[in-house]
Amino acid sequence: MPKLIDGRAIAERVYAELRDEIARLKPRGLIPGLAVVLVGDDPASRTYVRAKDKMCRELGLHSVKLELPAATTQEALLARVDELNRDQQIHGILVQSPPPPQIDEAAIVRTLDPRKDVDGFHPLNVAKLALDDETGFVPCTPLGCLRLLRESGIALSGANVIVLGRSMIVGKPMALLLMRKGIDATVTVIHSRTRNISEICHRADVIIAAIGRPHFVSAEFVREGAIVIDVGINRVEDGESERGYKLVGDVDFDAVSGIAGAITPVPGGVGPMTIAMLMSNTIKACRQITSASE
Ligand code: GUN
Repeated sequence: MPKLIDGRAIAERVYAELRDEIARLKPRGLIPGLAVVLVGDDPASRTYVRAKDKMCRELGLHSVKLELPAATTQEALLARVDELNRDQQIHGILVQSPPPPQIDEAAIVRTLDPRKDVDGFHPLNVAKLALDDETGFVPCTPLGCLRLLRESGIALSGANVIVLGRSMIVGKPMALLLMRKGIDATVTVIHSRTRNISEICHRADVIIAAIGRPHFVSAEFVREGAIVIDVGINRVEDGESERGYKLVGDVDFDAVSGIAGAITPVPGGVGPMTIAMLMSNTIKACRQITSASE
């Protein structure tokens, strides 16, 4: 049996560190604050937003959850973001993606104060990631994947890492992070126009699947002993489940787990780490904003 990479257990280790950091900020009168904005009522987004708010409260962070109607205009949303930019109790702002179609997401991201952009989506933070500037914010999911790999003792220097997917939320920042000096992986990014996908994946020491297609990575993609990180969280119909669906990853877990050297489950793999990294980025934002104004 391959080693199961337990995202919940590793996230708990991260929280132990974060609790110490929060305790050190408290005597200085500092409580990191996160605002999460949800426009509309997408059920999956609603679940994520609730989980983020709950974790803030568990850690004793200041949490603001803004739930706006699906018909919210671009102008109204920009105004709310602007208020949060100016709110001194808020150090991190996240606008849940995807927004409804009338919202220009790129324009919203550009309006965020980059010092509060804990998602790492603002162009300044994207540039800082490419420039290896540690003051920037790296998107939470790739940051969580990296932490999972490191905590699991997986060697990345010189390793062949295949990233499936080129999104701005996962694939692209994941590739930039892995090729950083000091991490030093050899990165290949696979996307919808890539040819011979299973052949390329078969050369991988590590596969990171982030394409949003249930069970896309099958047994023939994976070399014996390769490490498999599954970022996918796909809802598929399930008549046996009370809620009518189940969550599955981008990897066919049952087929691949007999071959992989280590693998993340869905749920309980990358998901808990994404939230842990959001909390970590919020604390970092609080530290950076407040030390700049001292
Ligand atoms: N939707 C899915 N993942 C994310 C994320 O990391 N940040 C935001 N803002 N929206 C998301």
